[in-house]
Amino acid sequence: MPKTKIYYICTNCEYESLKWAGKCPACGQWNSFEEKLSETKIVRLPKQENIRPPVLLPEITELDESAIQTGITELDRVLGGGIYHAAVTLVAGDPGIGKSTLLLQVAGMLIQRRHKVLYVTGEESLAQIKVRAQRLRLAQTPIPFLVETNLENIIYQIEQVKPKVVIIDSIQSIFSENINGAPGNVGQVRECAFTLIRLAKENNIALFFIGHITKEGSIAGPKVLEHMVDVVIYFEGDTFHHYRILRSLKNRCGRTNEIGVFIMEMDGLKEIDNPSDLFLSGDTRMPVGTSVVSIFEGSRPILVEIQALVSRSNYGIPQRTVSGIEQARLALILAILEKHCGIHFGLNDVFIKVAGGLKLSDPGIDLGIAMSIYSSYSNKPLPEKSVYIGEIGLNGDIRSVSQMDRRREEAAKLGYKNIFLPGKKFSENPSDSQKDIRLNFIAHITDVISARKELRK
Ligand code: TYD
Ligand code: MG
Repeated sequence: MPKTKIYYICTNCEYESLKWAGKCPACGQWNSFEEKLSETKIVRLPKQENIRPPVLLPEITELDESAIQTGITELDRVLGGGIYHAAVTLVAGDPGIGKSTLLLQVAGMLIQRRHKVLYVTGEESLAQIKVRAQRLRLAQTPIPFLVETNLENIIYQIEQVKPKVVIIDSIQSIFSENINGAPGNVGQVRECAFTLIRLAKENNIALFFIGHITKEGSIAGPKVLEHMVDVVIYFEGDTFHHYRILRSLKNRCGRTNEIGVFIMEMDGLKEIDNPSDLFLSGDTRMPVGTSVVSIFEGSRPILVEIQALVSRSNYGIPQRTVSGIEQARLALILAILEKHCGIHFGLNDVFIKVAGGLKLSDPGIDLGIAMSIYSSYSNKPLPEKSVYIGEIGLNGDIRSVSQMDRRREEAAKLGYKNIFLPGKKFSENPSDSQKDIRLNFIAHITDVISARKELRK
């Protein structure tokens, strides 16, 4: 006889406890504990038909590595070259960022390229989808839509339609009657995803899950969802800017941290081949407080404008306000400028803003931030057509960052003539390959900023 034991499980987050509690200690939900009976399982021998022997590598023949190109280059790159067979991709992002729009465009492109697709939506009506398709000029493209939230019905339809690619919009809206709990709860999301992934792998179907994210920014539902899928892509951007960035956080089929850049227009997402265009004002004369930096995202360099404003403080405590960089980074750069260049900001407010609302974490932007602050502080523009690349160490030394050559090349390609970069000593050498580019090597922040000298003038 198997032994039975009583335990309690939270219906919201599946936290297990031996004692009943009014409030779940894991998710904070009230009255969510349900009584369960556990049975100690008796280990039996597996069924003969379920036993699969190990396979030797040379014997694996069923490799089909060719990816399906969606034709949306920015997405194909983020996916690692296209949609791999039976790859499961989770596309997560804030509500309204454009996830459904992107995947509807993907479905349209795949149909035009004669691939079988099934778009399952548990969130919208057919009428709403038609309106979106009209905006995207896809209203006449024969994309099969299924408005369904029931897992068993979805599986039945997948088996009938036999598509190559299935889009589930969204995984949180799908539920199974065989699983306890309301749609969207952790157990439902995990089990529905698990069943669909198994179906996809067995039938060689590529699967896209659209996933909601919580207020804190993580994917709603179980963390395990991210482990179960092959590719995790975040769709980022904000409601005040048109640009959208697709970023791969995990990719079993390609490199991670790859980005794809789009802008959201009235008729859908448009690819941006040259993202630097988006984050530069196009004005090569540098206004006071502005510098251009070369960042590296995924496999591409991008030029971005950084603006600083240093003004006299009207309140007791000077303000430090940032948009697009971390507050701590500004504090650090101000401390370095104070200590090594003798500039004091005790009576000044300092504001930093990254053009286009982009969020930067690349260490190579330190030098550009310092130069923008210095320019605004001294009320003098920086040299025209200049790009700054380098991380600043605590003792004021300028350090090299990854992909220096590619960053430099991007600046040269876009017509920048003056590149400030880490190097042995302050020297102005025209590079051999590009005679009209001036490379200014700097070893220490005081090589480019000397406030005392400046203030004496
Ligand atoms: P949607 O794809 O529904 O977002 P998500 O699925 O991530 O919640 O996109 C919604 C927003 O995009 C909405 O505010 C309208 C806007 N939009 C455009 O600007 N242009 C378009 O062509 C489309 C289809 C949507
Ligand atoms: Mg949507």
